[in-house]
Amino acid sequence: MDKITKAQQIKQLLILKSLGYKYYNPNLLEQQNRLDLPENIDDLKNEVLKCHLCHLSKTRTNVVFGEGNIGAKIMFVGEAPGETEDNSGRPFVGRSGELLTSMIENVLLLKREDVYITNIVKCRPPKNADPTSEEANTCLPFLKKQIEIIKPKIIVTLGSVALKYLTTNELQISKVRGTIIKQGDLTIIPTFHPSYLLRNPSAKKEAFEDLKSIKKLYDEITS
Ligand code: URA
Repeated sequence: MDKITKAQQIKQLLILKSLGYKYYNPNLLEQQNRLDLPENIDDLKNEVLKCHLCHLSKTRTNVVFGEGNIGAKIMFVGEAPGETEDNSGRPFVGRSGELLTSMIENVLLLKREDVYITNIVKCRPPKNADPTSEEANTCLPFLKKQIEIIKPKIIVTLGSVALKYLTTNELQISKVRGTIIKQGDLTIIPTFHPSYLLRNPSAKKEAFEDLKSIKKLYDEITS
């Protein structure tokens, strides 16, 4: 079973548990996974804004669904909202967002509005902790549906958390960054998280190389 299917099943289990069920029928879960989430991005967003499937909903100020061009060829997936994002309801608008925007505009030569930006989890973990696997797996079906609707040709994972939850082979970011990973129908290129780059400016050189590979693939795909 892949991680996303598992995440969907965990979500269903949590729903059933909240309804008082003590056991479940796996076939029923499979069926509900297929029917569950809206196919339209605005309806999906409305559903995510109301989500209380994990305890991050208790401490969030805003859900950070994601934003950008619904027809984007490239999607950036970070880890989780930080304080500025939690306050504004928008992804990557704090210091790491400024760096991400500059990477998109100055190296990929795209406008921020032309790409799509979201995160593995849509609510801020207190004290900016890494999302737990329960939080990430509960939230993953929403990202999977965003990907299904937007159909990006390239997904850039930012940092090890996004890499971990969008791929299956326990890959190490230092080994696979800047390379193309085929994961089912998805084409993924991992790079460092902008907040890592802010803490470790010497890694910007490697991130620049990754962005050049991303640009090359983007230009091939869109030409
Ligand atoms: N870090 C992330 O991973 N995502 C954001 O939206 C902001 C900071």
